[in-house]
Amino acid sequence: MTTSFACGRVPLIATALLALSLAAVLPLPARAQTVLITGANSGIGLEFAKQYAAKGWTVIATHRRAEPPRSLTELAARYRNVRIERLDVTRLDQARALALKLANVPIDVLINNAGVYNDRSRCRPDDEECPGDWSVESFGKLKFSLLDTIMAVNIKGPLIVSEAFYDNVKASTQKKIIAISSSNGTLTGEKSPRPGAIFYRMSKAALNREMQIVAASTRRDDVTVVMLNPGPTLTEHQEYLKGYPGMLTTPFTVRHMIETIGRVTIRDTGRFLRYDGATEPW
Ligand SMILES: NC(=O)c1ccc[n+]([C@@H]2O[C@H](COP(=O)([O-])OP(=O)(O)OC[C@H]3O[C@@H](n4cnc5c(N)ncnc54)[C@H](OP(=O)(O)O)[C@@H]3O)[C@@H](O)[C@H]2O)c1
Repeated sequence: MTTSFACGRVPLIATALLALSLAAVLPLPARAQTVLITGANSGIGLEFAKQYAAKGWTVIATHRRAEPPRSLTELAARYRNVRIERLDVTRLDQARALALKLANVPIDVLINNAGVYNDRSRCRPDDEECPGDWSVESFGKLKFSLLDTIMAVNIKGPLIVSEAFYDNVKASTQKKIIAISSSNGTLTGEKSPRPGAIFYRMSKAALNREMQIVAASTRRDDVTVVMLNPGPTLTEHQEYLKGYPGMLTTPFTVRHMIETIGRVTIRDTGRFLRYDGATEPW
């Protein structure tokens, strides 16, 4: 009895020892990479969420609406790796509350995408193809309440979000903070600056400058900060520019930006790059 018991255990013990020694030498299964995207319910942000989800990343898709937008609930129904969270980027309290909820969740890529470029106050919230009004950003017709909104979302928002989730980024493998900027922020790239879009253009110039300084501050932690220009992208809100030469499709520009994000390293920190990785003058 004793003998047969002992004989039966030998292979068991040997298997357990083999499993233990294999576990010691084999790498652990790779953790899924995680991306947090602001303004993920439409346009470029939504396309980032779709493409990262399809690649198997854990996607924290954030929006500012009172209720989760349909574009995101549909995406989350399709991909179990999509998590929807509320985050108005101008709200420090919301950013800190979400950071607390996500404590110990490493964020490999933090994409500051949310942005406002013109006045959508006359658009119905569900009218994605409403173009918005640019006229109130022309000298002589300036609507200063829009300036406050654009500064809060495009300049203050990325600082709030980058600071709130900095520990999550530092704890990750890739350690990347991305800011979606625009060639509209250029100071040197235009021979003769055209008038118009004052608020938006100054906001992206300020975004580039602030992110350049954030990059200088985060280099010591090996955190890469890069500003990306998606190029003229035919999002839902830009459908009215369909016939305009040089417009890019949203899947195209986002696919290239994801490739560029994958390639950048700490050596690129503080740089302003086009969607395909080329240097953008500003
Ligand atoms: N499309 C282009 O050609 C182009 C070119 C260069 C740069 N960009 C930049 O790319 C980014 C995305 O633009 P897009 O063209 O995709 O525009 P979009 O479709 O209008 O998307 C903007 C997103 O930002 C969100 N947002 C606005 N205010 C917010 C706030 N306070 N908190 C959180 N989210 C907020 C919007 O949410 P709601 O739906 O709730 O408003 C929306 O999800 C922007 O930074 C833009 O400046 C775009």
